[in-house]
Amino acid sequence: MRYDRKFTSENKNNNNDNKTMAQQQTVFSAVQPSGELHIGNYLGALKNFVELQDKYNCFFFIADYHSITENYDPKEKPRQIFDLALDFLAIGLDPKKCTIAIQSQIPEHTELAWIFNTVTPLTELQRMTQFKDKSQQQDKNINMGLLDYPVLQAADILMYKADAVPVGQDQIQHIELTRKIARFFNNKFCNTFPEPKNIITETSKIMSLTNPTKKMSKSHGPKSYIGINDKPEIIQKKMRKAVSTTEYNKDIYNFYATLLKKFGSEKNKRCFNEKLKNQDIKFSELKNALAEDIANYFKDFREKRKELKKNPEKIKRILNEGSKGARFVAQETMKEVKEKVGLVL
Ligand code: TRP
Repeated sequence: MRYDRKFTSENKNNNNDNKTMAQQQTVFSAVQPSGELHIGNYLGALKNFVELQDKYNCFFFIADYHSITENYDPKEKPRQIFDLALDFLAIGLDPKKCTIAIQSQIPEHTELAWIFNTVTPLTELQRMTQFKDKSQQQDKNINMGLLDYPVLQAADILMYKADAVPVGQDQIQHIELTRKIARFFNNKFCNTFPEPKNIITETSKIMSLTNPTKKMSKSHGPKSYIGINDKPEIIQKKMRKAVSTTEYNKDIYNFYATLLKKFGSEKNKRCFNEKLKNQDIKFSELKNALAEDIANYFKDFREKRKELKKNPEKIKRILNEGSKGARFVAQETMKEVKEKVGLVL
């Protein structure tokens, strides 16, 4: 269990890993529980989390409070939270190496977000691209939470005084704002929060199976993405229907080149890269091969997930322990913050 922010006695005695100096650095990231994860989410987030947990003091959160700013069905939310926990664990996050927690179980996050609200100019929030996009997508539900979303995200990150935040491209603006909020707070009160760096987790975008000019996203329907938990036959089916072309089309060629690079077996890479380059490709063959490779890539994940799913009590225990540990740090931060803000008599 590695929930200590820096060096509480528990951490000092913790020799169950060989994290070196880098362990003094804290990494924070979170994923919203809003349905199944696809291979784009995997490359943009989870894959890197697994690598980072060996080197840093990591916090990986299930951002359930963020997820309720979108249109959703409350009956489905507990299951989505549970499923995301399963994904985290099955992909290889290890509660002995990192802290896995649920945002809403640590009420200090919303407390800190409120305090940050008082130092964040409204105009900063109004210019966020994600706010503008989501306001269009859900024009009947432009709630305050949607606007305030980046402030809660800043609270998540700064609560643990994170040094770095691994995120996909779409979150960079939010991390920039987090740095500003840290600065606003530090200037108004006194130096409290470090300004976190972003670690860009993925540079090659995974595009939609049905439209290679759009990013892979659940919002474009199930045919447009490959879920990391999709069964091999489903992957085959989706790939068979994926875009192809009789003439050269840069977007389509890039789309397949990226999938091949990220998930292809060595043999298939050798065989199909050459053909793609020479524009001498049979898409049906390539799609078939890729479907097989992607299914293989996630084989262990699917099996582990299935096993874990049989023991929901164990999952809940891991989440409770992680959240309890994170809360310990959060309470420490809030004590310091409240004193600096002038709320302690
Ligand atoms: N907004 C992030 C996303 O949708 C999720 C998130 C919430 C997050 N809090 C965070 C990511 C803190 C990084 C750090 O992807």
